[in-house]
Amino acid sequence: MKLKSAAILLSGLLLGNLSLAQQHSEQNHSKYVAPTDPLVQQKLAKWQDVKFGLLMHWGTYSQWGIVESWSLCPEDEGWCERKGPHSHDWYEYKKAYEDIPKTFNPVKFNPERWATAAKNAGMKYVVFITKHHDGFAMFDSKYTDYKITNTPFKSNPKANVTKEVLAAFRNQGFMTGTYFSKPDWNNEFYWWKYFPPKDRNVSYDPKKRPELWNKFKDFTYNQIEELMSDYGSVDILWLDGGWVRPFSTIDPNISWQKSIPYDQDIDMAKIAKMARSHQPGLLVVDRTVTGEFENYVTPEQSIPDHYMSIPWESCMTMGDSWSYIPKENFKSTQKLVHTLVDIVAKGGNLLLNVAPGPDGEWHEEAYQRLEEMGKWMNVNSVGIYETKPLAPYRQGKWAYTKKGNTTYAFYLADAGEKLPATLKPEGLTLAPKAKITFAGNKKALKVKDGAIEIPAKSAGEIGLQPAYLFVID
Ligand code: GLC
Repeated sequence: MKLKSAAILLSGLLLGNLSLAQQHSEQNHSKYVAPTDPLVQQKLAKWQDVKFGLLMHWGTYSQWGIVESWSLCPEDEGWCERKGPHSHDWYEYKKAYEDIPKTFNPVKFNPERWATAAKNAGMKYVVFITKHHDGFAMFDSKYTDYKITNTPFKSNPKANVTKEVLAAFRNQGFMTGTYFSKPDWNNEFYWWKYFPPKDRNVSYDPKKRPELWNKFKDFTYNQIEELMSDYGSVDILWLDGGWVRPFSTIDPNISWQKSIPYDQDIDMAKIAKMARSHQPGLLVVDRTVTGEFENYVTPEQSIPDHYMSIPWESCMTMGDSWSYIPKENFKSTQKLVHTLVDIVAKGGNLLLNVAPGPDGEWHEEAYQRLEEMGKWMNVNSVGIYETKPLAPYRQGKWAYTKKGNTTYAFYLADAGEKLPATLKPEGLTLAPKAKITFAGNKKALKVKDGAIEIPAKSAGEIGLQPAYLFVID
């Protein structure tokens, strides 16, 4: 079954994700807890230097070309509404959805191609969806049969796709991360069969039935332990599903947290301790659960409007959808470059999502965008990697970073905008004798009346760029 109404899905997804973005921006960042473990501090500093990563939502939902997992969830949301022949009956739909593994066979899976494309684009870390809320394990878990190694793909030598993805990227020098959803809508101890699920939450009160909840806690611990011990070195444990959290961590000022009905304490202290015993210095990102297990914060589909001093990362889609949809609407290279620069200038990292399809390949446009970003990065990444933000960070069409005594001033041009004869960096005072060049061009540019003079010849040599970088010493 292929679901066709991508346009409807798309507008719905945007709505859904906008509200989620808002949920994240509501988070109270003043409560950020900095790690005290020196190994975690070191890794965090390293991670803050690399700036640009790849996220990949991939699962059996990709075969139907629908929103990841969410159509299973009995919440009345337009953006993830069920579609297709089984949609009239939730039980029937869930059964059909959970039967997708019988035909899931991504024969074009080639993680080396992804890693090469990502590396050439200038990405330096990867976060791979090992299990989304639907509970389908994209790794060979021994704690479930609902997994990639139980599909027609099982006879493929690369069947344990999580292992292959992490290895391929690690081999190309990437830091690696595992996305793992804490809720699991396939697990009988989360959506216990005795009660029908009403929403995204556990379907019973864990306080009343601790024996069930303990089984779920063990299951979660065990699966995370598999990922932390059998998959080589991992730098980031990226945990989604922020409603699985202790009651005590709920911020009553945040609307979506207020409606969490039950205490869903998964024992993060125990999980983090175990995970770091296998992966010393591991970054733990228990998203939205402010405290010691959220080493960095993760605004979603949005860029904060100001500089933030705490470690943070915006996760964003390259198109409109987190998961593969047949007709994706990719952002322009210019938009992607501006997004990266804006985020880095405000002190964050960009985790850009590209979604593999059911055959295990990306859309060709995704490769094109990455290649074009790579062309820009080859010249301009000097103002990106290992830089620190510099006030005024972002002002008008300008964004700033610094490294040592060097200032990097990015001019975020409009589409097709040619360089004018003079440009005045907003909010920055230029010393009359400042040494200024374009990145990748040795010719010195002069300052006159506080503006940079750009001879037509230099502009011609630089050509049309999504963003222009002035290196100022
Ligand atoms: C949103 C989506 C979720 C996705 C996440 C990635 O919360 O609802 O499915 O995994 O974004 O950040």
